[in-house]
Amino acid sequence: MSWFLADEDATLAVAQVFAEVLQGAGLVFLQGTLGAGKTTFCRGFIQACGHQGAVRSPTYTLVEEYPLAEHRICHFDLYRLGDPEELEFMGIRDYLSDGSLCLIEWPERGMGILPAADLTLNLADDGHGRRLQASAGSSLGESWLQTLQQHSVLQPLQRDD
Ligand SMILES: Nc1ncnc2c1ncn2[C@@H]1O[C@H](COP(=O)(O)OP(=O)(O)OP(=O)(O)O)[C@@H](O)[C@H]1O
Ligand SMILES: [Mg+2]
Repeated sequence: MSWFLADEDATLAVAQVFAEVLQGAGLVFLQGTLGAGKTTFCRGFIQACGHQGAVRSPTYTLVEEYPLAEHRICHFDLYRLGDPEELEFMGIRDYLSDGSLCLIEWPERGMGILPAADLTLNLADDGHGRRLQASAGSSLGESWLQTLQQHSVLQPLQRDD
C-alpha cells in the first residue's frame, strides 16, 4: 500500500493519521535514503500524540524518549550505530518489551538484533514529493494497514501498487 506526499505538510498530515491509528505497543521501521523524510514523519507522529516541544533527530543519542499520555514513544535513529551488538548494550529488549511504540530510522543498521517490525514504512523521493509505502510484518501491522486503507484523509493520496 502506498501514498503520495506532495510536500512536507502532507508528510506531517499523514503522520498524524498514522498516530491516530497506531495505538499501543508496536515496532515500526522507517526506511529510505538520507533526506527521504523519515524524521519529518516521526516529528508529525510524535507531536500528534501530544508532544508539545521539538522533535530532535536522535542521530547522536540513538534514541529519544517521549513519555506521553497514551503511551511512551521511543524514536531511534541507528544511522551512526557502529555495530548491531551495541543495541544489546543500550537495552533494546527493554525498549521493545515495555509497552512502548518504537519508531526506528535506519533499521538496516540493527539487522541481526532487531526483531521483525509490525509495520515497515519506506519513504522515497518521487521527483516533486515523496512516496510512502507501508507493509505489515505481523497481524497487528495488518490490522493497522486495514484501518489506514479506509481512512478518509489518506484515501485521496493512495496509489495502487
Ligand atoms: N513530502 C515531502 N515532499 C518534499 N520534501 C519533503 C517531504 N517530506 C519531508 N520533506 C523534506 O525532506 C527533507 C529531509 O527530511 P528528513 O530530515 O525528515 O529526512 P530523513 O529521512 O530523516 O533523513 P536522514 O536519513 O538524514 O535522517 C526536509 O527538508 C523535509 O522538509
Ligand atoms: Mg532522520
